[in-house]
This record gives sequence, C-alpha cells and structure tokens, in this order.
Amino acid sequence: MFVSENLGTNELGHLTIGGVDTIALAQEFRTPLYVMDEEQIRKHCRSFKSSMEQFYGGNGLVCYASKAFSCKEMYRIIASEGLGVDVVSGGELYTAMAAGTDARKICFHGNNKTLDELKMALSYGVGRIVVDNIYELNTLEALCRETGKKADILFRIKPGVDAHTHDFIRTGQIDSKFGFALETGEAFEAVRLALECKNLNFAGLHCHIGSQILDTQGFEAAAEVMMTFIKKIWDELGAEVRDLNLGGGFGIQYTQKDDPLPYEAFMEAVSVVIHRFCKENNMPLPFILIEPGRSIAAPAGITLYTVGGKKVIPNIRTYVSVDGGMCDNPRYILYQSEYDALIANKADQPKDTVVTIAGKCCESGDLIGENMPLQECEPGDILAVCATGAYNYSMSSNYNRLQKPAVVFVKDGKARVAVRRESLEDLIRNDM
Ligand code: LLP
Repeated sequence: MFVSENLGTNELGHLTIGGVDTIALAQEFRTPLYVMDEEQIRKHCRSFKSSMEQFYGGNGLVCYASKAFSCKEMYRIIASEGLGVDVVSGGELYTAMAAGTDARKICFHGNNKTLDELKMALSYGVGRIVVDNIYELNTLEALCRETGKKADILFRIKPGVDAHTHDFIRTGQIDSKFGFALETGEAFEAVRLALECKNLNFAGLHCHIGSQILDTQGFEAAAEVMMTFIKKIWDELGAEVRDLNLGGGFGIQYTQKDDPLPYEAFMEAVSVVIHRFCKENNMPLPFILIEPGRSIAAPAGITLYTVGGKKVIPNIRTYVSVDGGMCDNPRYILYQSEYDALIANKADQPKDTVVTIAGKCCESGDLIGENMPLQECEPGDILAVCATGAYNYSMSSNYNRLQKPAVVFVKDGKARVAVRRESLEDLIRNDM
C-alpha cells in the first residue's frame, strides 16, 4: 500500500513512520517537516555492507554519498554503521568532520574543487581525493609539495555507459563535465602523468554512471569497461590499480510505477563481472568502493505539510496548496519527479480524488506533483509526501525567504530534532 516499508497506519487512521504518529509529529514540530526514520537508514546501510561481504568477500568500502542528505546526525549514523562517506564540497567535508567521521574513510569528489577545499582535504587527511581534471592534478601535486603531504588519489573516468535515466542526472556519458574520457586517451595520459607525481599516490579509478537506475546492466557494463582500463594500465604502465570505485545510483521506489531491485543485486552483479575478469586475466581483485546516496536516505524520509487553500478549476484541475513546495522539494520543478502522497490524518481512507499539489512560492511551476491520487482534503489536513529523504533537504533553498524546515529523526517510537527549523533571525543572520 505504501511505497516505503516503514510507513503504516495506526488505530486513529493516521500515517505512521517507524511506528510514530505523523500527526503527533506535525503538532509537536510544526510543518513543513522532514522526518527521517533512523532504523531504515541503518537497514539500508547494512544491505549494502552485507552485499559487499557476501559477494565480494568484504574487500571494499561502502561510502554513503552525503549529497543525498547531509547533516551531523546523518554522518554519525553512517559512521556507527561502519560506512565511509562521499563528500563533494568543503561544506559537506566540514560537516562530516564536525560529526566525527574518520577522514580516512572519506572520498572527496567534485569537478572544480577550490584551492581552499583541497587544502582542507589535505589538512584533515582525507583518505581519497577523486581528481577530476589535469588542472586539479597539478594543483594538488603542488599543494602536497608545499605542505609536505602525500595524497591518495583516484581519477574520475567517464566510462561512456548510458544508464537509461533522466538526462539531467546522467553523468557517465562522453558529453559530461565530470572526469576524464577513455576513448580519446585523455584518461590514460592522466594516469601516466599521475605516476610521475612525487607527492601523489595514484591509488585507483572512479566512475559514476547516473542516478535512480533500476537495473544492473549499466553497472555491469561500467565494471567491464573499468576493469579493461585497469588491465591496460597494468600492461602498458606496469602500475597496479588498488581501488575501483563504481559510484552510486541505485534506484528506489518513488511510486507504484517503479520496480527497484533489492540493493544486494548491484554488488552481486558487479562482483561476477570483476571476479571473472580478474580470473581470466590473472589479475588481483581491486578494493571496491560503492557510493549509494538516494538508496540509503530517500526511502527513510517523508515530508509533512499542512494543507491550505484548495482551488477547483472546473474541467481543468484542482490545486491543493501546502505550506512548503519547491524550496523544500525542488525535484518536481527540476526533473518532473513523481512522488506518492497521502493525507496523513486520513491514511486509512481511499484516495478518491486526483489533484495537483502546489507549493507556496511565487512561481507557477512550484508544484510537488500533478495528477496525484489523494484522499479528499480540507484546510488544516496534513499532507505526507513519501520517499523524500534524499535530495530534498539537501537541495532546499530559501527562495522567497522561506525558512528551511526542521529535520526530525524517529527511532524506537521517539522523535528528536536533528536540524532545527530556521528562524526569521537565521534568514537575516548574514545581512549587513
Ligand atoms: N557518487 C557520485 C560521484 C555521484 O555523483 C552521485 C550522485 C552519487 C555517488 C550518489 O548517487 P545516488 O546513489 O544518490 O543516486 N539531484 C538529483 C541526483 C543527483 C545525483 C548526483 N550524483 C536528484 O534529485 O535526483
């Protein structure tokens, strides 16, 4: 009935998340409100970790891609599950470190890391810096020389794999701002240069083929391409590639239309490819890294809103307005992403209308979704949008000077604030 397994209904007919009544949450913490279910996050971490054990003999590290959802409490949970993290900015890195993350388990990404960000990564002793381009390689080599540090680097490679996903979130193909191309020889030349850098340790390769991918073929193809390149490096440059990072992108169920695979299927599929390749070519197995973001965070979260006005436009559509919108969930306006929603105080009732859910921003496209089946609702009802744990809070904005909602974590029937709701004071904090 619900897209995420942690959702249910109680004897009041209210939607529950992790067993906690969402109406009580809305009353206590107000709306809009992000709610994250800690047990779900932990469960998803364990699925990826155990699939790494089961199919790859544990010779790897699962790094949570924290762009999906980043705050101190999330990094603490991730660390306590033994995962590493992927960060893409000084801000994510700073937050991860402030939460006590082990720097050696951090992969630092980004196609244009600033000098300050690179310095920060070196001073923290980040375990892996994923170098995106030659300018960055040279900058990092010079910085290491100046500071007397030696950094472990991976190269981001474009494996040229089409992952059949939305154009905006496809990053593995040739025309991409991320990484080095294989077929032009650019990637090979970069590795050759890196091996000459005295202050850098060329540790491996990285690729990421896209996001919200619902099958394994793209990952298998990427693993094959990357292993072929690893062999070429060994054959032609005599260098052993220690790490192979296959990125993230594992798809989840947003609506009943999505049919995702169990998370274990991804490690199983790529392990088969890599084991076979290494056996056939008499090569050592690389240390594997994967970077799930959405799959860990999205299904664990929901967003609660209060319904305001309703606008019935005869023969056209009915707009139901809520007290948030594109500021807390920009995924419809950006990608036309579909979500499942329900009236949380009528969760046991049938969805017998179809509506457009509108946000409160001064922007016509500010919608949570169109043609959404929903229970009949009225002002004051609580709307729950499901599977919003990833790329909602982390992509939220203050457009129209709306305050960012609070983030509440639920566990064992209790709720705690992990990120406070922004105050009006917060909005003008940096204004002179
Ligand atoms: N690793 C790298 C290098 C990435 O670029 C990404 C996502 C991930 C891992 C995690 O991918 P995931 O497992 O979360 O699919 N804002 C978009 C998604 C952008 C993803 C960018 N990179 C959205 O809301 O759908």
